[in-house]
Amino acid sequence: MTTTEQSADAIISIRQLGKSFGHVEVLKSIDLDIYLGEVVCVIGPSGSGKTTLLRCVNLLEQPTSGKVFVAGNEMTDPEVDIDGVRRRIGMVFQQFNLFPHLSVMRNLTIAQQRVLGRSKAESIEVALHNLERVGMAHKEGAYPGQLSGGQQQRVAIARSLSMNPDLMLFDEPTSALDPELVGEVLAVMKDLASDGMTMMVVTHEMAFAREVADRVVFMDGGYIVEQGPPDQVIGDPQEERTKAFLDRVLNPNSVKEGDEFAAPPAAPERGSLPVSALDPNSTNGISD
Ligand SMILES: Nc1ncnc2c1ncn2[C@@H]1O[C@H](COP(=O)(O)OP(=O)(O)O)[C@@H](O)[C@H]1O
Ligand SMILES: [Mg+2]
Repeated sequence: MTTTEQSADAIISIRQLGKSFGHVEVLKSIDLDIYLGEVVCVIGPSGSGKTTLLRCVNLLEQPTSGKVFVAGNEMTDPEVDIDGVRRRIGMVFQQFNLFPHLSVMRNLTIAQQRVLGRSKAESIEVALHNLERVGMAHKEGAYPGQLSGGQQQRVAIARSLSMNPDLMLFDEPTSALDPELVGEVLAVMKDLASDGMTMMVVTHEMAFAREVADRVVFMDGGYIVEQGPPDQVIGDPQEERTKAFLDRVLNPNSVKEGDEFAAPPAAPERGSLPVSALDPNSTNGISD
């Protein structure tokens, strides 16, 4: 793809995106379009640039080169109303980033009231609806510390949904969970996908990617190496690097000496302080 313009019907258009930290080039000429209602799973070894790519979509990272368009807005245009566009993008992190000192309900209503200007009654109604969607309505009065990791992540998803996003970004949403809690979060995400939510999901859950993704993108070394339908990329990968990665992930016990790939990461999360519901960039603890 040589054009630097957005694709007319894509909700996310990434064009020739490059990102360097110092002189380390982490993303290299990434081109990617994601369409309304599509579920795109991004897979790849630790350090391949998946998180950075996701964070460039809502400009939590400032791209070094190239363009990112979201819902027709050029995120990389200095004039863009960045907060306005970000409001339309839900983001769910590996660490759940709930406010520990606020109840589940308050975690869901605070940004609705302060950012969207909803009344208390309306924000509670929206919150309850979304807590029901993730099976957590019975915990509206609980505090995050009283919940399991899986429950906290479902609340975090409900919080995101309460802002009525046009699309959702997930960065390894189940990587911090005990194995027995992964399924409940994936089930919620699967429901969301079948409701038609546009989703970009960084994940190591190959079974989920295979079942739920419309498209799988394999990244390595800052490049998109291969992409296509899951049956193709996961079931019949064409590139050697994709094959080697999948072999590692799908057969974790057959680790070979000198294998270049790190184990599927519980990568240390950057920006994992309690992220303000008002601005995903800030950590200004909101007290209430
Ligand atoms: N803020 C940062 N400063 C310096 N290097 C970074 C920063 N964020 C990420 N990196 C580096 O960029 C590369 C890609 O990281 P990341 O996007 O987190 O990969 P992934 O999510 O695929 O594991 C890694 O080598 C990582 O160390
Ligand atoms: Mg990552």
